[in-house]
Amino acid sequence: MDFRKSDYESYDYSKFWEDDRRLYEDKSERMALRRLIAGIGGENKIFFDIGCGYGRLFNEYKDFETIILIDYSLNNLKNARERIERFLKNTPGKLASVYFIAADATSLPVKSDCADIILTVRVVHHLDNPEKYFDEIVRILKNKGLFFLEFANKRNLKNILRFFVRKMDTSPFNLKPSQIGETILNFHPDYISDILKKRNFTIKKSISVSNFRLNLLKKFPGTKTLLFFEKFYQKFFSFVLLGPSIFLKSVLDGKGPEDIGRNKITGLEDILICIYCGKTSLILNKSMIQCKNCGRIFACEDGIYNFKKKD
Ligand SMILES: C[S@@+](CC[C@H](N)C(=O)[O-])C[C@H]1O[C@@H](n2cnc3c(N)ncnc32)[C@H](O)[C@@H]1O
Repeated sequence: MDFRKSDYESYDYSKFWEDDRRLYEDKSERMALRRLIAGIGGENKIFFDIGCGYGRLFNEYKDFETIILIDYSLNNLKNARERIERFLKNTPGKLASVYFIAADATSLPVKSDCADIILTVRVVHHLDNPEKYFDEIVRILKNKGLFFLEFANKRNLKNILRFFVRKMDTSPFNLKPSQIGETILNFHPDYISDILKKRNFTIKKSISVSNFRLNLLKKFPGTKTLLFFEKFYQKFFSFVLLGPSIFLKSVLDGKGPEDIGRNKITGLEDILICIYCGKTSLILNKSMIQCKNCGRIFACEDGIYNFKKKD
């Protein structure tokens, strides 16, 4: 598989967020996510966090009935599982409805039309084929399902100013994604909105996030003050998408009858498919999953089902 060179297997991603200088971004993202999730009841809902990392945002969506965390990195998933186990130590029953799956976001081992809500934060910039990922989202999301997407915004205020004083060559107004270094793609908001509209999504809410992300400002006036202004900006000026990070809430239309929140699942068998033959004929046990149709075996280690393709 041809991946952008982001290697999360030999890197502890949680360290990135332990740095105090990231507190502002972490809190700004949670602020936005809370606004997107507010008012959606968790009962009977199947919630997917695709590219979940080490489960940083789990406590923001912990109330959904079934939670599926998917990531390509086994290392991140192991950390996510340990972290969530600690978090749920007083409600051990809840852990039984939280599942951990290693898989590629552009080839998901998930049945069509089974997700009520999908969240993806800080991931699309890593993908070699973002279009394929969006096709997968449409495939697994139910009609009227919700899609919460965060993407890095190339048309942010800092880039616009840098472009006008000629400190940046590539125009932030150009719709084409920009490559930053070796591993990151930044997107124009109109580029993402085109992708979504072409796939029958209606964007319900856009939030401009981390609007005051400047190291200098983090020192003075400091994170607390920045977060005060951030809250104000997110609430009243979010339609001006000038922040470095954008959160979108979209709803999927035109896929047939609405069945949000109707399906209860009894186990992973109800939602998984074989990534090789696409069939639902999977038999699960604690240490592996086998496809009855094509015979492929997928290992399960430390509670993580491994659906990464081997060829
Ligand atoms: C910057 S981290 C973000 C993690 C988490 N969403 C957060 O905001 O804390 C990007 C994550 O995307 C995962 N990732 C990158 N490419 C992926 C792919 N093709 N399929 C699934 N996950 C992928 C990485 O392993 C990593 O955990």
